[in-house]
Amino acid sequence: MNAREAVRAVLAEASSRVKPRSAEVYAPANIALVKYWGKRDTELNLPVTSSLSLSMGGHGTFAQIEPASAPVLVIDGQTIDPASKMALRMADYLALFGGPFRLTTRSTVPVGAGLASSASAFAAVVAALDDLHGWQMDMRARSILARLGSGSASRSVCTGFVEWRRGHQDDGMDSHAIPLEATWPSIRLGLLKVFDGPKPIGSREAMLRTVQTSPLYKAWPGQVADDLVVVRAAIEAKDMMTLGRAAETNALAMHLSMHAALPSISYWLPESLTAMERVRSLRDEGVRVWFTMDAGPNLKLLFEADSQDKVRAAFPELEVIAPFAT
Ligand code: PMV
Repeated sequence: MNAREAVRAVLAEASSRVKPRSAEVYAPANIALVKYWGKRDTELNLPVTSSLSLSMGGHGTFAQIEPASAPVLVIDGQTIDPASKMALRMADYLALFGGPFRLTTRSTVPVGAGLASSASAFAAVVAALDDLHGWQMDMRARSILARLGSGSASRSVCTGFVEWRRGHQDDGMDSHAIPLEATWPSIRLGLLKVFDGPKPIGSREAMLRTVQTSPLYKAWPGQVADDLVVVRAAIEAKDMMTLGRAAETNALAMHLSMHAALPSISYWLPESLTAMERVRSLRDEGVRVWFTMDAGPNLKLLFEADSQDKVRAAFPELEVIAPFAT
């Protein structure tokens, strides 16, 4: 099955149930605690493993979509060059739904926090398309469609803790996000920017190379299976130390699998390693803080509200997010 057929299959279940409108809709960004790294189908973005994330609450993307005579992409008030990589990627995605469309997005992810916003962007675009056509899709349908834009976007259709079940079907109809019931109001995410420049390599190519060439990738599916069990239980028990350790180890294992690829892939910069050392030494001083890292050099810190003052004192530049704040 290709992406166009996948869209058709999902939309066959939806019908125009309410009056279409073109309102501004929202989806949160998310940070994976157990990472998605590696695809079993590159067109449908079907993952090798399941993954589990924490939504960033009020930090994400607003999107609004309207039919247009030619594709237009406006991000944070700026019209994007239609020939740019970003505009072409979005136009290709929107072409799966007909179009052309004028898409306007604005981001509430802290400016310059070095966070990729593709997850919240694709999830918001699906919500906007849903709105425009009056489909009233359920969460599963929205998650499948968001996944076709970017794998991690499948998790941005829900809030709180979210598990993206890998699924087993070739058509991916069982590969979508499921929200966990647990809430954890005192948990905090800290965004620690160490560098704001372009990435050396995109996640799509980096995943492919890791899967194809890294001897360490063979260990990854087993590691994820174990980490999912530990992280689910830690969330249930609100056990910060177990959650932090598992999330940190999982992120390091993902990065090391890339380091062992041929040619080697590194998203770490010297500043990232310095920040990791600072987190470790803070822990040695008794502060309960852990880090995770995605396909970029910046760190995301995990801690609870009662450690916030100490973490902030050590990292004054930290942007702190309370994922369960209303
Ligand atoms: O959704 P993508 O293709 O941008 O891949 C995201 C991969 C990581 O951010 C590194 C991990 C994850 O699970 O979000």
